[in-house]
Amino acid sequence: MELYLDTSDVAAVKKLARIFPLAGVTTNPSIVAAGKKQLDVLLPELYDAMEGKGRLFAQVMATTADGMVADAHKLRAIIPDLVVKVPVTAEGLAAIKLLKEEGIPTLGTAVYGAAQGLLSALAGAEYVAPYVNRIDAQGGNGIQTVCELQELLTLHAPRAKVLAASFKTPRQALDCLLAGCKSVTLPLDVAQQLISYPAVDAAVAKFEQDWQSAFGRTSL
Ligand code: E4P
Repeated sequence: MELYLDTSDVAAVKKLARIFPLAGVTTNPSIVAAGKKQLDVLLPELYDAMEGKGRLFAQVMATTADGMVADAHKLRAIIPDLVVKVPVTAEGLAAIKLLKEEGIPTLGTAVYGAAQGLLSALAGAEYVAPYVNRIDAQGGNGIQTVCELQELLTLHAPRAKVLAASFKTPRQALDCLLAGCKSVTLPLDVAQQLISYPAVDAAVAKFEQDWQSAFGRTSL
């Protein structure tokens, strides 16, 4: 499976790349805007933070197919093997088809329904990103949508991967992996939750305390 961080925080990527088996970093326009760094500065920094070993994702801003294709070229001029995120609108589907013909890898993003996600895979997207928490927030069932999408891709577009996104809890991400998703992207707070274990910290502290009491030191 592939584990991504959904962030534009270069320092955090550097720190977490040491700990997690990271496949790369995903961004979206809101995430980039929050960091206030232009993409031509940010993307190379993120790439370096992963020591050039991860895959980067950045999103087009145009809303017409031709504009999205032009944006894809601009993004790939910054990072040549970048995966281009394209919102799955009608124009987005046309753009994904055009980019597929050029051999440019895409991710169909802003996916709120299984049929919408399947269409992006059939158009040629390598990844499809359903928005789990945002689907829940509007009264839908994010995990169920992911399960249906994963099943549809397995049956009809087996080369495309679900890259499940928009999480508020580690449990949501685990449920997507249990549904068979091959990739997830985690915001920093959810990634942090995955590696904070208060009970384990307490157990380790007790080991140290016992060792210290017996031997007057905490080392072996
Ligand atoms: C990924 O493609 C999305 O941009 C992202 O995960 C959305 O997350 P949010 O719903 O927490 O903003």
